[in-house]
Amino acid sequence: MHTFMLAAPAKINLILKVFGLRSDGYHELETIMHLISLIDIIHVEVIPEGITVESNSSLIPVGEDNLAYRAAALFKEETGIKAGVKIFIEKNIPVGAGLAGGSTDAAAVLKGMNHLFQAKLSLVRLQEIAGAIGSDVPFCLVSETALARGRGEILTPLDRGPRLNLLLVVPDFQVSTAEAYRTYQVEHRSLTVDTAAFLNAWQIGDLIKIADSLYNDLETVSIRKHHEIKKIKSELIKAGAVNALMSGSGPAVFGIFTDQKTAGDAASIMQKSYKQVYQATSYYRSDNYG
Ligand code: C5P
Repeated sequence: MHTFMLAAPAKINLILKVFGLRSDGYHELETIMHLISLIDIIHVEVIPEGITVESNSSLIPVGEDNLAYRAAALFKEETGIKAGVKIFIEKNIPVGAGLAGGSTDAAAVLKGMNHLFQAKLSLVRLQEIAGAIGSDVPFCLVSETALARGRGEILTPLDRGPRLNLLLVVPDFQVSTAEAYRTYQVEHRSLTVDTAAFLNAWQIGDLIKIADSLYNDLETVSIRKHHEIKKIKSELIKAGAVNALMSGSGPAVFGIFTDQKTAGDAASIMQKSYKQVYQATSYYRSDNYG
């Protein structure tokens, strides 16, 4: 087999707490990451040499700046494989939105190459390579829902919770992740954050309590600069969401709904004001290719 196709699902952060700045320039985190059914499709093909990246989207870089390219380069370096790969990214995940689009593509390339070249790199080694590519890549490699610590790479997988009915709204601007973290001040944290309450609600599948526990430290930072994020949150709640939150460093905002019908009705409302509106659910790896 010389080509392989993989699903690369987006992630949302149900909780994102930022702690102090570390000596390596990253912030210590405590976050709950969750895969959703908004997916890129990654095609990996063996070619005689080199690495090429192509995409149906003109919004992503296709050279060395693409995380998928970096994944292929690191994989070749690690294994010493001489052959090359041609990567095609069918982009569906909004770019620069806080949904780990680039990270999940990179994770899929690592998995695809390990399979195509029968390299048999262990999961531990793949996770190390993933961590060198970006903080979200280790999560995207294996997990569905996980509590992540460190800079995001120390993962505790969580059991499957309830399948979430989601609506995502992505405003027409991008947020720099590095700048959002730089601007964040630990002392601004609200005192009500409680990851334990979330974990308990997740375990018993209590959707209302899960929705109540949503929290993101970077939201305040991004809202200060882009008031539209706050507006989208209120509009999602007005349209029937139990609660809404910005994902990662944003600007994507997701709402959690009790059922798909309510989420669908809210989509019709939100589409009147926003171009990028996506209905999604939790993504289980057994649902699809990945
Ligand atoms: O790891 P990644 O390349 O995705 O991170 C992008 C930027 O976000 C980093 O360069 C850093 O400025 C910031 N970041 C951080 N602490 C983390 C993760 C990311 O400060 N735990």
